[in-house]
Amino acid sequence: MNTGKILISKSKPQIIIAKTEEQLASLCANFFYRTIVERMTEPGRISVALSGGSTPRPMHRLLAMPPYLTDIPWNQIDIYWADERLVPPNDPASNYGAAKKDLLDHLPIQKDHIHPMCSPHSPGRAAEEYEGLLAEYFELEPKALPLFDLIILGIGQDGHTASIFPNDRTAIDTGRWVVPVKGGTPDVHRLTLTMPVLLKARHLLFLVIGRSKAGMVRTIFEQDSAGLPPQLLNASSNQVAWFLDKEAASLLTKNLAE
Ligand code: 6PG
Repeated sequence: MNTGKILISKSKPQIIIAKTEEQLASLCANFFYRTIVERMTEPGRISVALSGGSTPRPMHRLLAMPPYLTDIPWNQIDIYWADERLVPPNDPASNYGAAKKDLLDHLPIQKDHIHPMCSPHSPGRAAEEYEGLLAEYFELEPKALPLFDLIILGIGQDGHTASIFPNDRTAIDTGRWVVPVKGGTPDVHRLTLTMPVLLKARHLLFLVIGRSKAGMVRTIFEQDSAGLPPQLLNASSNQVAWFLDKEAASLLTKNLAE
């Protein structure tokens, strides 16, 4: 399913560098597939949270085609979001809207396995509603944390991930699972899973494309004191894998073979 030479770090978190965006999408789709297959050895439904922005779109389109379309047991998966812009689902900025078009509309999956972070209500109420949904799915008491099997994340040039922005502790110093925040590009109200929920996930997949992110990728991996949200996740003991194209990795000076 994937071709060409890739660079895989020996360090933790794992860094995988692909030569092209196409190869990167294919590697990520493979990772997605392998994570699901591995998880199927255990009982229970499988939970995946998607992110938005433009970066995951090629991977989503690939997952909507064979062999992924046919080989992944989609009906055993529940699909959530790591974050969402609170815009109508048909707005071009909607993360759900983009994933629906690229991926969800093509999948053999029951509609009630798809859980968009969309709500017509206020951001505060929308966050509570999504927490309610998670509590029901994961059968959780208020103080427990949802355990996602896989959360797919991107990063912004400012060092945010999901909608957890640097210098905003709302989604970090909290016992909440979902919080409303405002900011980013577009600068709108958003919902985001919180840092404690991301830290708990079994697998985190960061997907980063393009030279515009190269400076931030370098800061994340080479400037420990920056205290950025992705760095908090890198420091966790869970499985964190970074999939970069060679442009995004172009300013890394670290020897990945170490
Ligand atoms: C969002 C996101 C966000 C995204 C990064 C990368 O809704 O804004 O989920 O965290 O992953 O900003 O976005 P791009 O792929 O568009 O650069």
